[in-house]
Amino acid sequence: MPLITIHKNGETHQGEIQPETNLVVRAGIRQFPYPHLSYGCGMGKCSKCMCLIIKGGETLPAPNWKEKKMLGTKLEQGYRLACQLWVKEDLELSQNISS
Ligand code: FES
Repeated sequence: MPLITIHKNGETHQGEIQPETNLVVRAGIRQFPYPHLSYGCGMGKCSKCMCLIIKGGETLPAPNWKEKKMLGTKLEQGYRLACQLWVKEDLELSQNISS
């Protein structure tokens, strides 16, 4: 099962998830990464779920048009929208933004 590592506000949180899982959907039903993941719309419109991918980014699907529109040049810096990602493999990310 994919192991998710989230760095947030100086703390590290880890948990396993089912493969092909969306982290925002999981947080929405109060499973890890709840309550550590910040998010809003769940539809790629608010960017509150923006994360910096530290490890495992190569296993993620290519950015869709919503991520390109919301993130712009931040995509090149390694940021993604968690609500647009279905995670298959281990992933390490940082989310140091206010909720
Ligand atoms: S939760 Fe709004 S863009 Fe991801």
